Amino acid sequence: MLEVEQLSVRFGGSRLRRRKPIIHAVNGVSFQLDRGETLALVGESGSGKSTTARAALRLLRATSGTIRWLGRDVTTLTGSQLREHRRHVQMVFQDPYSSLDPSMTIDEIVAEPLYVHTKLDRAGRRDRVVQVLEMAGLSAQYLGRYPQEFSGGQRQRVAIARALATDPEVIIADEAVSALDVSTRNQILNLMKDLQAESGVSYLFISHDLGVVGHLAHRVAVMYLGSIVEEGSTARVFGAPAHPYTEALLKSVPSTSLTQQGTGRFRLAGEPPDPSRPPTGCPFHGRCAKAIDICSVEMPSPRPVPGGGTAACHLVPVTAAAQPATAGG
Ligand SMILES: Nc1ncnc2c1ncn2[C@@H]1O[C@H](COP(=O)(O)OP(=O)(O)O)[C@@H](O)[C@H]1O
Ligand SMILES: [Mg+2]
Repeated sequence: MLEVEQLSVRFGGSRLRRRKPIIHAVNGVSFQLDRGETLALVGESGSGKSTTARAALRLLRATSGTIRWLGRDVTTLTGSQLREHRRHVQMVFQDPYSSLDPSMTIDEIVAEPLYVHTKLDRAGRRDRVVQVLEMAGLSAQYLGRYPQEFSGGQRQRVAIARALATDPEVIIADEAVSALDVSTRNQILNLMKDLQAESGVSYLFISHDLGVVGHLAHRVAVMYLGSIVEEGSTARVFGAPAHPYTEALLKSVPSTSLTQQGTGRFRLAGEPPDPSRPPTGCPFHGRCAKAIDICSVEMPSPRPVPGGGTAACHLVPVTAAAQPATAGG
């Protein structure tokens, strides 16, 4: 449904502010998202997950690359065509306390995208608001209330109801459960799963925490300094990570929140490099325990790994392609 090829996004370095360094936020990212599928983008803060998602869905402009929606090139749409395209995509953000306007009632919040994207009249909008609130597990009795009367989990249900209102094909959930306690988080993840089974919506699920994606994602793409360093089916990436960065991320997740791998708390040493001065070679080489000489010189290209998917690492033999790839993309 959505195909992204060699997407890059740079910030800064404009004519107006010459001193500002150019930030290479996203570098040559490619992926696709199918109908009814959940693709997780994971990686540390600043790795370019939000920027990738927003650019892929034309919420911000890519510096280069191609974006196709149902086979049609939407990379350079503008004006009314772009507005029309955007109705396919809705977002749910991390902070349920700041993402809902405190001066609006719940029915106004959920009805807002219906004003923008549909021709429904007042009664039609009201019907749809009640319907999506129920889908999100909230009773119609809350219609006239304000967000501050709700808990974090209920607010995230409101945000999900709003995202569902226009019946989008894709919902970007950007750290949507990261601020919630564990039991509320699981309730929201289950809700999202049920909604997907009912409506066939696709999720681009963004998280810095690998532990939360296992429950929901069919496929995982791991980002590091603006690049996808590994991707594949969730089972393969969790069960047999091929990139040292993925391995390190998995080790940093408490074992209870993972389905397969995990060896207790572990903090990945060091910091990611500065995206305004990206290193030569593999972006991870400075923190990689397995780095060899070539890693600081040459950027590894993605190679197919046994069990499906790819990893951009010099230690993955290029000949692994011989293995039949089953799951993943
Ligand atoms: N509007 C912006 N202007 C300048 N730099 C930005 C902007 N948005 C993001 N960045 C930078 O781009 C990089 C990637 O950011 P982001 O996509 O938000 O990462 P993530 O979502 O993985 O935390 C970071 O270095 C961030 O500081
Ligand atoms: Mg982000």
